[in-house]
Amino acid sequence: MEETENPRAPSLEPERSFGGHAIGDPFRRVVESAPYGMVVSDVAGRIVMVNPEAVKMFGHSAEEFLELRIEDLVPPRFRRGHDGLREGFHRAPESRPMGAGRDLFACRRGGMEFPVEIALTPLDMGDGPFVLSSIVDITRRKRAEEELVRYAKKLERSNAELEGFASIASHDLQEPLRKIRMMGERLVALCEAELGDQGRDYLGRMIRAGDNMHRLIRDLLAFSRVGMRDGGFRRLPLAEPVRDALSTLEMVIEEAGAEIEVDDLPEAEADESQMRQLFQNLIGNALKFRRPGVVPRVTIRGGIIEAEEGGRVRLEVCDNGIGFDEQYHDQIFEIFRRLHGKTEFEGTGIGLAICKKIVERHDGRIHARSLPGEGATFIVELPKQQKASNDQSPSHR
Ligand SMILES: Nc1ncnc2c1ncn2[C@@H]1O[C@H](COP(=O)(O)OP(=O)(O)O)[C@@H](O)[C@H]1O
Ligand SMILES: [Mg+2]
Repeated sequence: MEETENPRAPSLEPERSFGGHAIGDPFRRVVESAPYGMVVSDVAGRIVMVNPEAVKMFGHSAEEFLELRIEDLVPPRFRRGHDGLREGFHRAPESRPMGAGRDLFACRRGGMEFPVEIALTPLDMGDGPFVLSSIVDITRRKRAEEELVRYAKKLERSNAELEGFASIASHDLQEPLRKIRMMGERLVALCEAELGDQGRDYLGRMIRAGDNMHRLIRDLLAFSRVGMRDGGFRRLPLAEPVRDALSTLEMVIEEAGAEIEVDDLPEAEADESQMRQLFQNLIGNALKFRRPGVVPRVTIRGGIIEAEEGGRVRLEVCDNGIGFDEQYHDQIFEIFRRLHGKTEFEGTGIGLAICKKIVERHDGRIHARSLPGEGATFIVELPKQQKASNDQSPSHR
């Protein structure tokens, strides 16, 4: 068989393409190997040339194409007015994407529609203007996008359900627990003498377990409520929630004989009560995980990281306590994760999980640095300004 230059591309026979124009080799190779469909049409909308990809995409043979007008590739429901658009293009020809901001569809042989992206390029080939339509079939991309949106919605729903569940469950668990603790205390008050050593020991343990459970439920409730708040962002000096947190922790600070230093702190757009919760947890930890025999020193520092999008603020809570092995720097933010024993340091392991959730709700990040025995530093970065979408009701999403 004789070798022809383009054995697979009958659509590009030069004498038949382009209303009789011979097209140059380089152009022809580009068109032929293009990964998207190319259709050239004249002022009247008559198709004069297509590439193999267009043949594959639309299902018309190259010969059939030459009998068609560009409107035949448009789904019937969009055909009306297409002539007008075509004429408009020829009046002011310039390369541009077609249908900016609208979803475009094309029509396969047999009438099936598929979503496309189209770029239009004017071509002047001597005997009048032509337009080159470069067409990409975006069916798969659209499907993937829809899948992603569906998945995100599903995730959002199940997240909300879970939070609702945790909130209701912890709330309902509080009531029976309250009764258990109350009865335990009455038992101590009434029958302590008759209980004997062992009985008193059991009862004491029961009451302590009840107290633990009370703390656990309280913290779980706080955790589940972080994501349920709507809006609540406003521009505020971060010194304010820090001051409030310190005042809540006043007794602990006094007992520990701690020295607290607060540097100048920046402003940021944030949820004030959640900022208070954040600092209360971080400063509370800094005081709790102190080294015996060493005056606890806690420093709260702040600064601004200039960047695009309005910049970010950086906050640090730094202590001189027992510290931790940095290999756990991620794990400590997981719910219930504790590195230190319950008998030494009381707690539920929920505090840092709350911090992380709060920071992420603000579109920020939190991490920690530490060396065992040499204190720990918790670093929070927050955007100075919240994106509008963070502060809006679901109807805006
Ligand atoms: N400032 C700190 N210094 C040393 N270890 C800390 C500090 N803050 C947190 N940790 C470690 O991270 C764990 C998780 O902290 P958190 O979630 O607040 O729980 P909790 O305070 O109830 O133990 C703590 O149990 C502790 O092991
Ligand atoms: Mg804590």
